[in-house]
Amino acid sequence: MSTAGQQNIAVKQGVEDSGKYFRYMSEFVGFTAADAETIGQTRAVIEKHLPSIVSRFYTHLLRYPPTRQWFLNSAGAIDQDYLELRMRHLTNFWLRTATSVFDDEYARYVDYVGRAHTPHGADPRIYIAERYVIGQVGFVQHAISDVIIKELHPVDPDLAFRAEEAWDNLMMVLLEMLSRAYYTERTAETFESVQPVDQAAVEKLAKEAFGIELGEDKPLSFKKVIVAQETDIPDGERKIVTVDTLSIGVFHHKGTWVALRNSCLHRGGPVCTGSLVDDTLTCPWHGFQYNVNTGQLLVDSKAFLDKYPVLIEAGNVVVQVPDAGGQAATGTTPPAQPQALPVKPNEFRLSDVPPGGVKCMEVDDQTIAVYNADGMFYATQNECTHAEGPLCEGTLEGAIIECPWHGSKFDVRTGAVTLRPAKEPLKTYRVVLEGNIGRVEVG
Ligand code: HEM
Repeated sequence: MSTAGQQNIAVKQGVEDSGKYFRYMSEFVGFTAADAETIGQTRAVIEKHLPSIVSRFYTHLLRYPPTRQWFLNSAGAIDQDYLELRMRHLTNFWLRTATSVFDDEYARYVDYVGRAHTPHGADPRIYIAERYVIGQVGFVQHAISDVIIKELHPVDPDLAFRAEEAWDNLMMVLLEMLSRAYYTERTAETFESVQPVDQAAVEKLAKEAFGIELGEDKPLSFKKVIVAQETDIPDGERKIVTVDTLSIGVFHHKGTWVALRNSCLHRGGPVCTGSLVDDTLTCPWHGFQYNVNTGQLLVDSKAFLDKYPVLIEAGNVVVQVPDAGGQAATGTTPPAQPQALPVKPNEFRLSDVPPGGVKCMEVDDQTIAVYNADGMFYATQNECTHAEGPLCEGTLEGAIIECPWHGSKFDVRTGAVTLRPAKEPLKTYRVVLEGNIGRVEVG
């Protein structure tokens, strides 16, 4: 039987050895370099049918309650925006696969996609039972085979034959790469009846997702907006601004200016408020990392945050953004101010606790210290367990807070003492992030 510790070691190995493992499985299955080349020759026909494949893929998932549940909003209806996001990721996955560059980077990407369906991915609450992933690999394999028979066979039977075999071999490798993220876990489940789905609506979304992935949704016109005075943002600092409905992070980074869309490609988290170490920007929600200079997602080099040109004009920081009204802009307009919505006593704005920062909060007669440890948010009781020194006036280094009175140190992730004189651990509280707001769950 495997333990949690063993599984963590296996996850790390999975990340490190995915290229080696991909090659091992390819050899075992018989997926060859010639197969890879053949797959590249099918890209155009696969691409042509991808919207339909993605649409049928999700129609199927929406029928079954255990898979459907992942795409519903709190009112129990299908969350269209989230479904479209998932469709984009799936479209990207198959486009990238059909591009047929099966190097270490690709293998790492597949390993990461496998883990995304398990608690070993970015979000520990996700668990898509392995049976559904296996089923959907089977579905895609069949759908691709169909395309090859219908489109390629009439024009080039030899290529069609080789393509069928190449895709079958590759699918076996992919299946194992996605499956191994599960290790030995299995959960019991009740099997409920299938649900009706509006297939036309799903098809429409899939087409849109396809368009976005191919960059067809790019705006036609841009406008210039002054977002700050040059002196407002010294080198090494940033400002989050809102233009129309768009939230943008403007970075003054190592002597240059960069403006990135403040919406993580993973789940739309406030990525630009995350920690910035050297050139790596980390989203505070699930730790997705980007190169701040380019907006490139580190785990998938083909994915980028939207980036907007920045100009310094007459001491103003000017960002060129898509024109929401669709009109070509000539002048420069001042920025719309972000709306400061009120927060509840147990809530805080993420922008109020920058990386390395500590904030004091009064919740239900208790004083709580909230920390931003390299982009991850934690909360503990404020009083040091030694002599009740105020931790929110202490110094945070990484995840370790030092009490300003007698130097006791605690790990804010667990509350554990890491340096005496304190002996007792701190009480910790769960922090839930929603949009730009953090909520401390007390009691
Ligand atoms: C052929 C099988 C499948 C492939 C190739 C696939 C592909 C992907 C990809 C590329 C991602 C995005 C990872 C990321 O960049 O964040 C993803 C995430 C996800 N997939 Fe799948 N998927 C498959 C099967 C399924 C099934 C059966 C479900 C059932 C509901 C599912 C639900 C999800 C969910 C909920 C996420 C989001 C995970 C997160 O938020 O971290 N997928 N999948």
